[in-house]
Amino acid sequence: MDHINPFAESLKRADDRASGGSAALRAEIDGRLEQLLPPADRQPDRLHKAMRYSLLGSGKRVRPLLCILVAEAAGGPGRSFAIDAGCAVEMVHTASLILDDLPVMDDARLRRGRPTTHREFGEATAILASIGLLNRAFGVVAEHPDADAALKTGALEVLSGAIGSDGMIAGQEIDLHQRADFDRAAPIESLNWLKTGVLFVASAHIGALCGGLDPGSVEAVKEFAKHVGLAFQTADDLIDSTASVETAGKDVGQDAGTPTLVSLSGKQAARLSCEGHLQQAMAALERSGVEPARLQSLVDNIFGSKA
Ligand code: IPE
Ligand code: IPE
Ligand code: MG
Ligand code: MG
Ligand code: MG
Repeated sequence: MDHINPFAESLKRADDRASGGSAALRAEIDGRLEQLLPPADRQPDRLHKAMRYSLLGSGKRVRPLLCILVAEAAGGPGRSFAIDAGCAVEMVHTASLILDDLPVMDDARLRRGRPTTHREFGEATAILASIGLLNRAFGVVAEHPDADAALKTGALEVLSGAIGSDGMIAGQEIDLHQRADFDRAAPIESLNWLKTGVLFVASAHIGALCGGLDPGSVEAVKEFAKHVGLAFQTADDLIDSTASVETAGKDVGQDAGTPTLVSLSGKQAARLSCEGHLQQAMAALERSGVEPARLQSLVDNIFGSKA
């Protein structure tokens, strides 16, 4: 299982063939994110600069890629909405990273290869920038001109459910205040599901809504994303314990002293867990009936399984 090389450099390279065709789409996402934010000189410019600084840094854009590639694989007509909805998910994700990095949470110094937002702009502006991104995310979905009201409402419902106190922020709360007591893999997996899995599922679910999939296929696509998300958080924990700061582009060793799948079960077992989730992801993708090729490539590029 040594070939699991999480978050392969290939996803970051601007070489379309090396990244399974997703580099052009990533560039499109980056361009659209830029357009969807207020300009850096709009007052209060310090706040807008902080929002742009955090969002337009070199994120891998995995969640919008998932949303858009599911919509494309489903073959429905909703591509332009899928792009903006994917960007909204990326805004929400970035908002969560700003908070995650604060001194009262993970106290991180580096994010996306640069000083964390609070180190660059101060804690107060960082918190406001996070709220600004979160708020903008919902506006981007609500104001889209080409999507019908039912699709927009559906996407908003999925997004708000995923990041709320039964979803991502529940995971962050448990991470900070309950994780230290975990001594088995099962509660760690539940935590990984809330912290990370739910937003992966929301991304794919919104993509499936854009693609107009039938309910059975939507469930299979969500199952696919759930397993990708679970593998992703364990891979992130592997990175935390094995990668250099330069490779990760963020602080490493942050999980030292707190239980993760890696610390409880060992690196090899964590890799096996990733591998197992990716196999289950692929089986669900097969069941969904959507064209699997580009989603398969995305997964290969995230986890470096063709590296
Ligand atoms: C980091 O997410 C936080 C986790 C859920 C593990 P990413 O690894 O997707 O971070 P970016 O967006 O590429 O910076
Ligand atoms: C963060 O998990 C998950 C969310 C932001 C919801 P981590 O704390 O492991 O993420 P990194 O390692 O700082 O990116
Ligand atoms: Mg954290
Ligand atoms: Mg963190
Ligand atoms: Mg981490």
